[in-house]
Amino acid sequence: MSIYIRNAWYVAAWASEVNHELFKRTILGEPIVLYRKNDGTPVALIDRCAHKLLPLSMGRLVGDYVQCGYHGLEYDCSGACVRVPGQERIPATAKVRSFPLVERYNAIWIWMGDPARADPAAIHEVRKINEPGWAVIDGGYQLHGGDYLNIAENLQDPAHTTYVHLRTIGNPATSDVPVKVEQGPDYLVTYRWSNNVPPPPIDKRNGDFKGLVDRCQYYHYFLPCVSRVDVVTMDAGQEHTEENMDKGLRLYGYKFLTPETETTTHFFWMQVRNFGVDDSKMQAEQFASLDQTFAEDNVIVTAVQREQTATGTRQQTWLSIDAGPSRVRKMLEDMAAAEQTAT
Ligand code: FES
Ligand SMILES: [Fe+2]
Repeated sequence: MSIYIRNAWYVAAWASEVNHELFKRTILGEPIVLYRKNDGTPVALIDRCAHKLLPLSMGRLVGDYVQCGYHGLEYDCSGACVRVPGQERIPATAKVRSFPLVERYNAIWIWMGDPARADPAAIHEVRKINEPGWAVIDGGYQLHGGDYLNIAENLQDPAHTTYVHLRTIGNPATSDVPVKVEQGPDYLVTYRWSNNVPPPPIDKRNGDFKGLVDRCQYYHYFLPCVSRVDVVTMDAGQEHTEENMDKGLRLYGYKFLTPETETTTHFFWMQVRNFGVDDSKMQAEQFASLDQTFAEDNVIVTAVQREQTATGTRQQTWLSIDAGPSRVRKMLEDMAAAEQTAT
């Protein structure tokens, strides 16, 4: 059984990565070539010529058509062959698969499953991204050496922070506050509030807190491929409504996981926050710090994946900290199995 879930929108690339030239990327084990037409519309085709299967990314663009680098077949943006050098007739088999794309939130989203089900409304909403008073960092990308299930587990696993991120975000002080978990059909959230606590120095710097604060970290996972960490610091004594939380310090950390292969994952990340909005120094520092943090995760996940592959085993013993990670894995595996049974 494959671990892939096909009927979903995945980030194929940041919008800035795709231009009027051929750009290749493997997604869900399939070679894809992306480009923009002259009018800017993005296109995705299978990166394999219908003739002798040469990757089309080794060819070139002729206007809005892709010309194969072997015998010059030309394909339009739907994947139909429009020209065969040396003959009039275009064989019915001379076509390649094209994939639905949507450009949104500075990213290009691809649908790898049944095209009839590709509803743009199903793209996960990124909160506050275009609203005044919120700063955006996007363009974060790393290729991670683990399958997306291992990475999803890592993202639902606050317990690793103290050990993996010692030099970046590690903070052992909160590790004894109880954690709550909520699950819906297509999401899981783990969170903990620390109420009536003095604001830590970093929150004092970024916000204008006179007294005690309530702080929370929500770790959301939206199946199959979006993680959102929601970090809030607000004046103590208020109801924890969305509106009140937005008046405090709030930061959304998004990760979009796109399986590359059965053992590797494209890890795209973005941050949206309501403080330091015009602070370019903070922008640069946040980018560097997050990039470093996720590189730390990549080292761990890559090594774990290597040992799992070598042993054919995933885990030998289970701990209470595995509740969230195990649950997100199970939800993803069930979703993949249900999709594969249905088709
Ligand atoms: S392999 Fe592409 S035209 Fe022959
Ligand atoms: Fe981490």
